[in-house]
Amino acid sequence: MEFKATDVRLVEFQERIDRGEKIEAEDWMPDDYRNQLIRLISMHAISEVMGALPEKEWVPKAPTLFRKLAIMAKVQDEEGHGQLLMRVAEDLMEPLGKNREDIFSDLFSGRLKYHNVFHMPAPTWADAGVIGWLVDGAAIVTQGMSLSCSYAPYARTLVRIVEEEGFHIHHGESICLSLAEGTPSQRMMLQDAVTRWWPALMMFFGPPEGSQMSSHQLQNMRWKIRTKTNEELRQRFLTKYVARIRSLGLSIPDPTLSYDQEEGIWRYQQPDWELFRSIVNNHGPMSQERLGLRRMTYEEGRWVREVLAKHDRVGA
Ligand SMILES: [Fe+2]
Ligand SMILES: [Fe+2]
Repeated sequence: MEFKATDVRLVEFQERIDRGEKIEAEDWMPDDYRNQLIRLISMHAISEVMGALPEKEWVPKAPTLFRKLAIMAKVQDEEGHGQLLMRVAEDLMEPLGKNREDIFSDLFSGRLKYHNVFHMPAPTWADAGVIGWLVDGAAIVTQGMSLSCSYAPYARTLVRIVEEEGFHIHHGESICLSLAEGTPSQRMMLQDAVTRWWPALMMFFGPPEGSQMSSHQLQNMRWKIRTKTNEELRQRFLTKYVARIRSLGLSIPDPTLSYDQEEGIWRYQQPDWELFRSIVNNHGPMSQERLGLRRMTYEEGRWVREVLAKHDRVGA
């Protein structure tokens, strides 16, 4: 009997999604739906937090006061995005007896991955520009899709995040434009940064699905947790940015990159997907250093969290 009741609930849940209804935190949802969302939103949250680190390195070294204020605000925004998303994830984790402590312990143990781009070094000021312009540009392609996610709290939170990401792209583009119009060595620094970041940008959306999607991917589509494949997102990114990059007189380090008019798709060199797996498993060039920094600040902030938790209990 109980099995049947669950079955009916599953069908009704799918019907709600098919009608375009949104799911709220307190609504009934299948365990798998909850688990998929926790995985997705925790990864997004922790990537925002870890994503602040490469640019944070450039706050003390920004070339002008104006640039320093802008990059400082961006770093602060990214940390804020992490906070907002962790709250969304925590609501989903509560029935499982978990909270953000688990997100951080999963990060430190390697169970929770953060985005491949944030394992990469940012050795020059041009890298800070390229991160803002193209990494945030890629992020907004994914997040733009997620605005239509069937889980309402995530979609609502993304409205604010996407708005702020739009500013980040302008900030990064402005740095890149200045360098592109600058001295020959500034132009060279920008070209080097684009060359350095290109493979990571091609990896950004994950491996192409090929002709067959996994059962998890299909289920996520049916539940409208996501509405586009990795490859569709990558194609959208290429359509949006290839011409813009070239219009600055920059070259893209992929001699095979071209638009196939007949098929209506971009052809490009596949990045090294083995390398991608190794990077997201914390074997990237900066993985350990950044995890170490995050672990240290997490431990240093422990007493603050404990005081606040105690205060909450007293106030309750
Ligand atoms: Fe962000
Ligand atoms: Fe951003």
